[in-house]
Amino acid sequence: MVEKVTNSTEKRLRNILKDRELYGDYGKKLLLMEGEKKPPFETVVNAIPFFKEHGVKKIIDIGCGIGRHSLLFAREGFDATAFDLSKVALEAVEKRAREEKLENVHTLQGDAWKIPAQDGAFDAALSFRVLDAPFYTTEDRKEAIKEMARVLKPGGDALVVLALPKKELDELLETFKDAKLQVTSVALPAEIFVDFWVIKAKKE
Ligand SMILES: C[S@@+](CC[C@H](N)C(=O)[O-])C[C@H]1O[C@@H](n2cnc3c(N)ncnc32)[C@H](O)[C@@H]1O
Repeated sequence: MVEKVTNSTEKRLRNILKDRELYGDYGKKLLLMEGEKKPPFETVVNAIPFFKEHGVKKIIDIGCGIGRHSLLFAREGFDATAFDLSKVALEAVEKRAREEKLENVHTLQGDAWKIPAQDGAFDAALSFRVLDAPFYTTEDRKEAIKEMARVLKPGGDALVVLALPKKELDELLETFKDAKLQVTSVALPAEIFVDFWVIKAKKE
């Protein structure tokens, strides 16, 4: 029997469970194999000097996967929190951090809609290709942006990378405003296909 999902929270939780499966068992190998090959994204590498100039110390990598960006942050001397709902992914981050003898990577498991951290706990946040998953709705994405804003300190930097149609991006940018995230730039990285957005914002 096909169940009718009426409640949006329930629907989102169901989607998250799907995601858990994807990155849990069946998708485990794929994620690990693909992730190990992928270097940190250029836009994130280029943001390092910017974070340093802004005095960033603590960064949260929301939906870190197996941690290519969390590890980059740690190598650069930041205190990096690798946050993901996938235990498998976080175990891979821990393994990689051990191999590199990086002690400044902390893993944290949870949902991007309810990050287990205090208000203003981080100086900067990265959300790289997390919110654009096709099973999330615009409402889901908006809630996640508000939650990211909550854990950022005033003056903190947010870097969000997602692939979405322009119309939906525009709607999301309104949410940035509502969440007191002042958007400082929206760019399309030259090396990537259309509708792949790099959004930089500052918490008021
Ligand atoms: C496409 S991968 C990107 C991984 C990483 N940001 C990178 O660039 O290598 C998406 C990641 O987001 C995580 N994710 C998806 N939904 C999430 C949620 N609601 N809360 C926390 N993590 C989530 C997935 O488990 C997965 O590791």
